[in-house]
Amino acid sequence: MKGDFTMNDFTYSYPVKVYFGTDAAKKAVSQELGKYGKTVMVAYGGGSVKKSGVYDAVVSMLKEAGKEIVDFSGIMPNPTYAKVQEGAALAKEKQVDFILAVGGGSVIDCCKIISAQAKTEKDIWEMEFTDHVFPTEFVPMGAIVTATGTGAEMNNGAVITHEEKKIKTGVWGAFASFAALDYDYMKSLPAKQVVSGAFDTLSHCMETYFGSPRTANVSDEINEAIMRNTIRNLRVVAKDFLDENARRELMWDSAMAENGILKLGKVTDFQAHMIEHQLGAYTDCNHGCGLAVIHPVLYRHIYKDAVSRFAHFAEAVWGVSAEGKTQEETALAGIQALADFIREIGLPTNFKELGIEADENMLHAVAESTVTTPGCCKKLTVNEIFEILTECR
Ligand code: NZQ
Ligand code: ZN
Repeated sequence: MKGDFTMNDFTYSYPVKVYFGTDAAKKAVSQELGKYGKTVMVAYGGGSVKKSGVYDAVVSMLKEAGKEIVDFSGIMPNPTYAKVQEGAALAKEKQVDFILAVGGGSVIDCCKIISAQAKTEKDIWEMEFTDHVFPTEFVPMGAIVTATGTGAEMNNGAVITHEEKKIKTGVWGAFASFAALDYDYMKSLPAKQVVSGAFDTLSHCMETYFGSPRTANVSDEINEAIMRNTIRNLRVVAKDFLDENARRELMWDSAMAENGILKLGKVTDFQAHMIEHQLGAYTDCNHGCGLAVIHPVLYRHIYKDAVSRFAHFAEAVWGVSAEGKTQEETALAGIQALADFIREIGLPTNFKELGIEADENMLHAVAESTVTTPGCCKKLTVNEIFEILTECR
């Protein structure tokens, strides 16, 4: 690449059509499903959609549209590769024309890879991680989102846990051709998941912001606005998780953090995510809660390698005054504001509060299997990751 720019080169186009707001799912199904064949696989999780009435609503819309339904249930939080294979086998057997993911990040991610696996005899994991070949053919899919935060509906990266290999990682799959974001379909989400999901959004923003370049640029200035908005609305939902205005804003913050806009011209960081994903592979912990524990500890460990960026984050996002402070003191005050905020909104601040038994052997295994990222301001060693994990206890 030529030069050292504040915005790197990029090509931008976006394939996901978003239906946002009241009756979004209804509008999406009636306007989009006509383009596809008759057999629709309705994929969902452990049953929340049945209790909330979302499943019945979706099935009756599909029946009205003349579709035949193939039911695929039981996609677990932190979806496994075995579940992907089960879904792909069913999709092949029933020759489904379309996959409709009805759920949160886990259901949507699982469907992205089912969509790819159903189109090939090769093993997708081997294909991507051994042969470095990425799928190009997919069973088309759409997403009716019941839990936001991950922004999974906006991208084609799926986070899948390979249980035998003890790896939780990003696998490339299908983009949803459309995503429906309707608050009425998310009302039943428990308060804890609303907060941890929204923290995941904040994490995605930070993980992009602290990637390189770390000098002032338009992507990061938009990002600062999204972070401030996420923080403001997280404070609202931490008190009243059914505040519809706040929830609607968070729905869009979540999508914005993962629709590519904030990442334009940047090499993202995502080091906290890499650590959390491996922690998840060993403990199955809640994604947003795991991130809440890791972020401040990681940042205290690395801030000196990007001190001016951390100081700017403190001022622009947390309203820290730099007056009378050194740049390092300002940077640390920002990280403290983040840590205080995590406590204020009721998320865990250490592994004990997260409810996981973090023995030394397990933490070693997590550290050894964590991928280090090129966008992070500091290239961490296995020992440093182990130290960070130990400080999280
Ligand atoms: O399984 P059900 O019964 O549906 O219950 C789910 C699940 O227990 C429940 N839930 C979802 N919608 C609900 C509801 N309960 C009541 N009412 C509703 N409307 O919530 C629980 C968590 O669901 P899950 O889908 O696991 O949560 P989330 O959306 O946070 O997704 C987490 C997964 O996404 C991955 C995470 O690693 C994790 O595997 N991520 C995906 C990303 C991506 N594709 O871009 C990025 C993220 O960084 C993240 O890694
Ligand atoms: Zn995340």
